Amino acid sequence: MPRHSYSLAEDLADASRLIARVAAGESLAALRAAAPLRPAVLELVYGTLRDYGVGDALVAALAHRLPRDPHVRALLITALRALRAGRAQHAVVSEAVNAVARLRIASAKGLVNAVLRGYLRDRAALDARAAATDEGRYRHPQWWIDRVRAQYPGAWERVLEAGNTHPPMTLRVNPRRTGVAEYVALLAAEGIEARQVGAQAVRLVTPLPVDAVPGFDAGLVSVQDAGAQLAAPLLDLAPGQRVLDACAAPGGKAAHLAELAALDLTALDVDEARLRRIGAALARLGLAARVLAGDALTPEAWWDGRPFERILLDAPCTASGVARRYPDVKWLRRAADVARFATLQAQLLATMWRLLEPGGKLLYATCSVFHEENDAVVGEFLARRADAVRLAVPVLDGGQLLPDAEHDGFYYALLQKSP
Ligand SMILES: C[S@@+](CC[C@H](N)C(=O)[O-])C[C@H]1O[C@@H](n2cnc3c(N)ncnc32)[C@H](O)[C@@H]1O
Repeated sequence: MPRHSYSLAEDLADASRLIARVAAGESLAALRAAAPLRPAVLELVYGTLRDYGVGDALVAALAHRLPRDPHVRALLITALRALRAGRAQHAVVSEAVNAVARLRIASAKGLVNAVLRGYLRDRAALDARAAATDEGRYRHPQWWIDRVRAQYPGAWERVLEAGNTHPPMTLRVNPRRTGVAEYVALLAAEGIEARQVGAQAVRLVTPLPVDAVPGFDAGLVSVQDAGAQLAAPLLDLAPGQRVLDACAAPGGKAAHLAELAALDLTALDVDEARLRRIGAALARLGLAARVLAGDALTPEAWWDGRPFERILLDAPCTASGVARRYPDVKWLRRAADVARFATLQAQLLATMWRLLEPGGKLLYATCSVFHEENDAVVGEFLARRADAVRLAVPVLDGGQLLPDAEHDGFYYALLQKSP
């Protein structure tokens, strides 16, 4: 089949369509699941979303009246990103003008041309003006910047900047199939540089597409951030234990639990589409679990009444600790979502507690950096429950991991029920 090589105009048009849909509230993960994207479009989309605060500020400064058509606005922000990323100026301007026809916004031709040329004429001053706003400088929405600044007076800039970086790629070695040293040697033999960064964690010096990771299809490794890999070992697992992963999809931590011991493991999730990915991951790794579709808030619908010895509650959250992996999240979330998630998390924690055996342990986890979803949820829970204690976990230093070059942002609280 002859291969079609795509023009920059097609890449800009396709990327802009996605940016417009994200700006209207759709999640990038769902859009990607629905239709695979070519690498050039992916790069434009991720770059544009990481930089959205800057693009938005530039369009506001350059257009006399803000374009109302979402595709016009999306095309401008995407083309500005391409310019800022160092793409050839004349190519970007002329191809963005060509993209208007593909997006059926031909009447915006003059505006697109004028805004992009206006940017190039006065670039240094406009960049400086955008960088003078918080959103332009830190590339997060203002409410998010304000919250991180208030909650981490000594680390807020570092946290926001980490949210804009390219994330590291870390693998988790499946001890049922190979050892860390053998796997690192296998990578070296293929000319892939990597370093062990945790008990089962190996970080690639340069990220690779998953299908280029040696031994991935054969179940030697999974892709999982080093911070996420801290969860399963905290539960101090032993063969035969009855374990519940209450919010398990797509199954990263559930598979890790199953790798560590031959458990009686139930992997539950309310989202059936995401749940299918657990089955695929377990099959690839040669592991087993009972995979159940169900709502953790209504256990009577799926629970047999026998308490669990261990529960992992990896609760739905704002994902503010993993914004660099899901840059759309920064612009999709609203300030009010934080309280909404905190309410749901408190309900999930109280419900899961009922299912835990006396003496059993529950690990509460989020991939958020906001206190409201973390220490506040756990603190309020502990204040109301006389039968719950929080166990000290020295490696975690208080439970809140902030995103950095080694790992994403996570929160863990290990709780034990009185015997
Ligand atoms: C942070 S993700 C879990 C990630 C997973 N533990 C992993 O490591 O791959 C949160 C999950 O909670 C699920 N969820 C949200 N509300 C739920 C509920 N009421 N009951 C069960 N699962 C729920 C979502 O569908 C989502 O898959």
